[in-house]
Amino acid sequence: MCGIVGYSGFRQASSVLIAGLKRLEYRGYDSSGISVLNTQGLVTFKKTGKIINLQQIVPKDLQGLSGIGHTRWATHGGVTDRNAHPHNDGKNSISIVHNGIIENYISLKEMLKADGVVFKSETDSEVLAHLVAKFYEDDLEKAVKKALTLVKGTYGIICMHRDKPGILVGARNGSPLVLGIGEKEMFLASDVSAVIGYTKQGIYLVDREVIIVDENNYRSTDLGYQELDKKVEHISWELEELEKGGYPHFMLKEIFEQVDSIPRAYSGRIDEDLATAKLGGLNMTNRELLDVERIKIIAAGTSFHAGWVACYLMESMARIPCSIELASELRYRNPIVEKNTLYLALSQSGETADTLYALREIQRKGGRVLGICNVVGSTIARESDGGVYIHSGPEIAVASTKAFTSQITALYLFTLLLARMRSLSWEEGTTFINNLKKLPEMMQSLLETKDQIAALAKKYAHYQDFLFLGRGINYPGALEGALKLKEISYIHAEGFSAAEIKHGPIALINEETPSFFLVPDDGLKSKVISNMKEIKARKGLVIALAVEGDEEVAEIADDVLYVPRTHDFFYPFLMALPQQLFAYYCALELERDVDQPRNLAKSVTVE
Ligand code: F6R
Repeated sequence: MCGIVGYSGFRQASSVLIAGLKRLEYRGYDSSGISVLNTQGLVTFKKTGKIINLQQIVPKDLQGLSGIGHTRWATHGGVTDRNAHPHNDGKNSISIVHNGIIENYISLKEMLKADGVVFKSETDSEVLAHLVAKFYEDDLEKAVKKALTLVKGTYGIICMHRDKPGILVGARNGSPLVLGIGEKEMFLASDVSAVIGYTKQGIYLVDREVIIVDENNYRSTDLGYQELDKKVEHISWELEELEKGGYPHFMLKEIFEQVDSIPRAYSGRIDEDLATAKLGGLNMTNRELLDVERIKIIAAGTSFHAGWVACYLMESMARIPCSIELASELRYRNPIVEKNTLYLALSQSGETADTLYALREIQRKGGRVLGICNVVGSTIARESDGGVYIHSGPEIAVASTKAFTSQITALYLFTLLLARMRSLSWEEGTTFINNLKKLPEMMQSLLETKDQIAALAKKYAHYQDFLFLGRGINYPGALEGALKLKEISYIHAEGFSAAEIKHGPIALINEETPSFFLVPDDGLKSKVISNMKEIKARKGLVIALAVEGDEEVAEIADDVLYVPRTHDFFYPFLMALPQQLFAYYCALELERDVDQPRNLAKSVTVE
């Protein structure tokens, strides 16, 4: 989703801003722009399309030591140069970048129009520039605060004024903003990836916080004048993690990284002697954990699928009733929050608006929510009552891959912990841990089949509809396989329980609609095989993901990919990787923009 960056210091601001915007590209965007303050005043450049288009119109020797920049993911108003940010007031004295949505922008626009303001764009954001200008009387902080008191909605903003060189005023409410503190330079950005090339010291803003920054100093207040005491935090991500490291795409790199990211999610968190997990950040006593009678997971997209896999384990192994719900749905249906239900908010980015608002709704009703996040210091991580980081490292490709398996790993550890407090024996706990620790080697062996998967993708990429089918703990994995394929290749793909196809979807089957079956050698295999035969009987093509050496499946399917044999609980990891590679190679075959698929954003900070 939109990215914002601001700079005040001693370097050429335009270069820092453009470099920062490039780091934010992964969030998804359709236009970009910068404003820089120099002797000519505020100079603004904006352009639709990729940042390279912006670079072509920004003079290489553009002077100016402070400025702001933005990557826009269109919400209000089409993808046009005019709608791109920054937005300036009529006198070109104020320039502003904004993430989020100003819900009452229509009434604010009417009010400003009555004052004679002429709007240049169709965006909600432009009202902010005119509002700040309206209230400006030589004090930018005051004008921004006054403007924000009139605003309903969400924002992460950075604002600058022609007469205040080096000064940036940032504010957040619902859209993330971080300050990077350098030596004689300061950075503001919507996420740390834009600043870690310069500094590892950061401050995360909270909602309704305003920060006033120049090249040497910062001061943080609430929307009034109450100063806030902010802790400077160490930013742990490394710059190399944001590079492709020799891979053609971030997505491929991240698929390959799973060999390391899965052990990173469990390392230091296993107690072999007691055959359990130790999770430091839960903020819950053993007694409180024992009192948990029900678990409810809230999430969106891929995280939803990861949470769903974990629900199966939670019920089977810990015998705790577990359900999952789309965060977007939970929030608006007046959910019943029960006393001994523990809620888990699952989010890679930790910024997904749907999940964040659902978390707040549960907390408002007195529920306890643990956050399972990847991004350290993210809003969900900070607002939850405790939680677990999945430590998968930065996930840059829009399509989530390594975070999916790391989320399952973290949730499996949590399940192990609860299960060992209940009926799981030491021996069973030890077996579970041993199986978990075999995963990296198995994932490595799957990566070695990549050429076979690429060849399969070449064969199938030109079909226009796919079904992905699985059962039991592998049913959510089939939904995830379909999501991966559709989001990066734009091939229409639907995921179903293999058992459900006879209730409708089988009507879609003909020679032109391949079905991708997940067929581990578990208790449901014979049922899935029957479903495969049903498809074959209707001339449907079948690709099967089966367990090494499974001749029975090979005989029925048109094409088979194999995964190593493991315990039933661990197939979701092994089934995920070939599906990710299949989607990747199909997208490649169709020459799609793999890392930044059309219309999508990495961190969905609007509802
Ligand atoms: C799909 C994908 C999205 C996200 C969803 C939730 O590949 O990445 O479906 O999973 O937007 O995002 P997080 O996990 O950041 O809350």
